[in-house]
Amino acid sequence: MKIIIKNNTINMKGIILAGGSGTRLFPLTIAVSKQLLPVYDKPMIYYPLSVLMLAEIKDILIISTPRDLPSFKNLFGDGSQLGIKISYKVQPNPDGLAQAFVIGEEFIGNDDVCLILGDNIFYGSEFKNLLDEAIADVKVNQNAIIFGNIVTDPQRYGIVEIDEDQNVLSVEEKPQKPRSNYAIVGLYFYPNSVIKIAKNVKPSERGEAEITSINDEYLNINKLKLKILSRGFAWLDTGTHEALAEATEFVKVVEKRSSLKIACLEEIALNYNWISKKELSAQIKNLKGDYYDYLKKII
Ligand code: TTP
Repeated sequence: MKIIIKNNTINMKGIILAGGSGTRLFPLTIAVSKQLLPVYDKPMIYYPLSVLMLAEIKDILIISTPRDLPSFKNLFGDGSQLGIKISYKVQPNPDGLAQAFVIGEEFIGNDDVCLILGDNIFYGSEFKNLLDEAIADVKVNQNAIIFGNIVTDPQRYGIVEIDEDQNVLSVEEKPQKPRSNYAIVGLYFYPNSVIKIAKNVKPSERGEAEITSINDEYLNINKLKLKILSRGFAWLDTGTHEALAEATEFVKVVEKRSSLKIACLEEIALNYNWISKKELSAQIKNLKGDYYDYLKKII
């Protein structure tokens, strides 16, 4: 999405953070990246990438570990087959989410940026509108936008406390005594100032540069806005065996019932005319299996 402000074109760049150690999924992730594990019919990273594409963000940086980055390059190349541009950068150690903006400084340049975690899955109607609203709010008001979803185990998440008008009162990382049940999900929109803020984030007690510290900075200057994911919206995090199995089941059931695929990247690219039917036909003509059968049907 492009919005022209005072003759300057500011784009929204996208970052997928797909590193980490995935220890809760051991032994699955001893030799394989969590974000490449299957979630039903496609690798996990397809889901967050589809969110950025849905938001019409076409310039995307994938950050991962030194071990796993080559696999992501094998999977997506430069992104041109999807009509987008994908770049890659290593995070040497899993030192925290806030590092994404330091590692991504050059990539972000003078633009604004959306960060999505490589293991988060979103599904629901009106999602495109929500994304468009968030992007517009960043552009026009220079606000930082986070999204909240009710959870039953708030000690495990970044938690946002709000008043009755949904103004943010506080943000806390994995609090022992949570002030609300609203977890902050792994999707964040920031103005360009996030680079400077991220550079000043000090590691927390657990030794990570926390994204909550960035959100706290925006809260201090009254620039942190929350959007609540409504009832009927599904946010799935896939960090445990149980959650991963549930995500697979969820995608399978929804795809079967609706006869539509979730996070089918080529379909999104086709819908936005980033690639033509002819180009896609040529790409997939020798590929087999239900994912490609689906695409052939669309074409
Ligand atoms: P987490 O689920 O918090 O951490 P993890 O993936 O290392 O898993 P575990 O707790 O089981 O050891 O990370 C959330 C997402 O962010 C996930 O997609 C991995 C990614 N991540 C990074 O890319 N770099 C980091 O420094 C951290 C902390 C996470």
